Amino acid sequence: MLSYRHSFHAGNHADVLKHVVLLELLAYLTQKDKPLWYVDTHAGAGHYTLPEHPAARAEQQSGIARLWDATDAPAPVTRYLDDVRQINPDGMLAHYPGSPWIAARHLRRDDRLWLSELHPADAESLSQHFGTGDRRVHVEKRDGFAALKAHLPPQPRRALVMVDPSYELASDYRNVSVALADSVKRFATGVYAIWYPMLASRESRGFAAALQAVAGPRALHVTMTVREPAPGGMAGSGMFIVNPPYTLPDSLNTVVPWLVERLGQDRAATWSLE
Ligand SMILES: C[S@@+](CC[C@H](N)C(=O)[O-])C[C@H]1O[C@@H](n2cnc3c(N)ncnc32)[C@H](O)[C@@H]1O
Repeated sequence: MLSYRHSFHAGNHADVLKHVVLLELLAYLTQKDKPLWYVDTHAGAGHYTLPEHPAARAEQQSGIARLWDATDAPAPVTRYLDDVRQINPDGMLAHYPGSPWIAARHLRRDDRLWLSELHPADAESLSQHFGTGDRRVHVEKRDGFAALKAHLPPQPRRALVMVDPSYELASDYRNVSVALADSVKRFATGVYAIWYPMLASRESRGFAAALQAVAGPRALHVTMTVREPAPGGMAGSGMFIVNPPYTLPDSLNTVVPWLVERLGQDRAATWSLE
């Protein structure tokens, strides 16, 4: 039984990095007048109600709450904040959008969303959120790695694949590497965005190198650390993007230092882009 629930972490510093990158990818890929598939292997609940109790607010306080009132954000962060404000129409930060919500907002009429989620409660929330009203969206209560095999190569030959496991099982690291190797063999031109937590474990420390070995030179690796590592906590996270848009390095070179400035909690706060 899966115990990880993203609702306890929604809006933290890792979500900020992940969702800003996701928006940059969507903005680029929806410029071309050709249908696009969005495949989200670990979709979560779609959107989250943020906890009100102060003791439960540490996660949002590490991320979105520190940006909520920003007036000097670079354009990609402003677009991200617009999305979060859209889901909070009365101006109070009470809700946070998940990756499916963000993708659905920016994808076009002829695009498709394939959303996999294994946790029964989150899969149910996801289905209820989209209902039957949005014919672009397909919610699947199934293993996201199996979904990749089923949906790639995509029918329109264009796809953005978001891989965002919880890594509560150490086997997730290996599963992602294997899934990426298999996916790029069947669909070499896809854009793959893989999120991971920067932890002290051997699997986490070696993960980017393992992905690099699979993807070769056509990849971008961005990391953001907000504090000194502490036992049990996640001080930083990374995203590994295969076949990134040519505009992404310049954009991240502006955005990530700005985020570190805002979200950094101590002198260990830093970032990298390779
Ligand atoms: C980090 S959360 C996803 C957050 C979401 N992508 C977002 O940005 O809003 C990871 C999700 O993966 C789900 N999950 C875990 N193993 C899975 C699997 N093998 N296939 C599909 N979903 C899985 C968990 O229940 C959890 O909701």
